[in-house]
Amino acid sequence: MGENDRDVLRPHAEVQYADELAALAEHDDRERPPNWRLSPWAVVEYLMGGTLPDGTVIAPKYVGKRRLIEVAVATLATDRALLLLGVPGTAKTWVSEHLAAAISGDSTQLVQGTAGTTEETLRYGWNYARLLAEGPTEAALVPSPIYRSMQAGAIARVEELTRMPSDVQDALVTALSEKSMPIPELDTEVLATRGFNVIATANDRDRGVNDLSAALRRRFNTVVLPLPDTADEEIAIVAQRVNELGTALALPPVPSSADEIRRVVTVFRELRDGQTADGGTSLKVPSGTLSTAEAISVVTNGLSLAAHFGSGQLSADDVAAGVVGAVVRDPTHDGVAWREYLESVVAHRDGWGDFYDACRALG
Ligand SMILES: Nc1ncnc2c1ncn2[C@@H]1O[C@H](COP(=O)(O)OP(=O)(O)OP(=O)(O)O)[C@@H](O)[C@H]1O
Ligand SMILES: [Mg+2]
Repeated sequence: MGENDRDVLRPHAEVQYADELAALAEHDDRERPPNWRLSPWAVVEYLMGGTLPDGTVIAPKYVGKRRLIEVAVATLATDRALLLLGVPGTAKTWVSEHLAAAISGDSTQLVQGTAGTTEETLRYGWNYARLLAEGPTEAALVPSPIYRSMQAGAIARVEELTRMPSDVQDALVTALSEKSMPIPELDTEVLATRGFNVIATANDRDRGVNDLSAALRRRFNTVVLPLPDTADEEIAIVAQRVNELGTALALPPVPSSADEIRRVVTVFRELRDGQTADGGTSLKVPSGTLSTAEAISVVTNGLSLAAHFGSGQLSADDVAAGVVGAVVRDPTHDGVAWREYLESVVAHRDGWGDFYDACRALG
């Protein structure tokens, strides 16, 4: 049974967007790097969205500067790996998944970086029962996602690279510079098939936790994914993702929520920037990240409340608790920042009376 047949909560990108990828492949007469499913041009088209000559609509996955995605894709066609860097919630993981899906048709070769990640997770491990019974053999070896991608000539993904201890990170150096993985136990090595490359993501805020070693840094081209430039851009991202998530979660339809989305995004941007949109009032900046991703989840939660317990229409009541929860992470410092914002900005803004009352009612 394929993934398509089951009630999968969140299909991988290559499954969910299989039709788009197939249509792109069919129209794509540009040159493809060895073992790429699509040309670099078509990969960018898949990420940024567009309409094909036969009318097939490619949904935009990344909303932002096309040039950033072009640089990312061009990097993957070279012998350098790609590092997507940015503050939390700037779509690093999202872009990484879609790039791997478009280039290799497989976004699942993934290593999640944590403080506990070991070298085996990046290289290979052993099936201990077989290892004890047979000694080190190829059959006893358990390949890592990097190993598999090297064999397949595909993209491997490393999430949160800088959360791994630096000496573990360095296990990537040979894979990226020599394009090989030695297996001393078997006196052999895996040589990467053309098409192999790595997309890593790292969080700006983790910088300093485990900095990238100089040796590894040289193997990566870094693309920084920024927070959306304008409120309208951010609103468009939130609206689009909320819509997709609502469909995926089978939430009952809730009529147009544009006003509440604008409000959530406005609150987040103002607090993040430490000043009101008109620049007139300076504000205390709360400790939370208040990213686009958090705005998406606040609105999605609000939709669920509205659909199941509310009027069926997204109202200030449905988003207020989510907004306050996202802003007030640390009750002391953030609580002060929030109350100041509420009383000096929200209370006096035209048309925001319902939101002010809803927030006040939360205590
Ligand atoms: N510019 C953007 N274009 C499209 N979607 C975006 C954009 N910015 C954020 N998102 C959405 O935000 C959500 C979270 O993104 P993602 O998890 O990839 O963030 P991240 O940068 O990996 O964060 P973290 O550092 O916390 O891991 C995704 O659903 C993604 O669609
Ligand atoms: Mg991420």
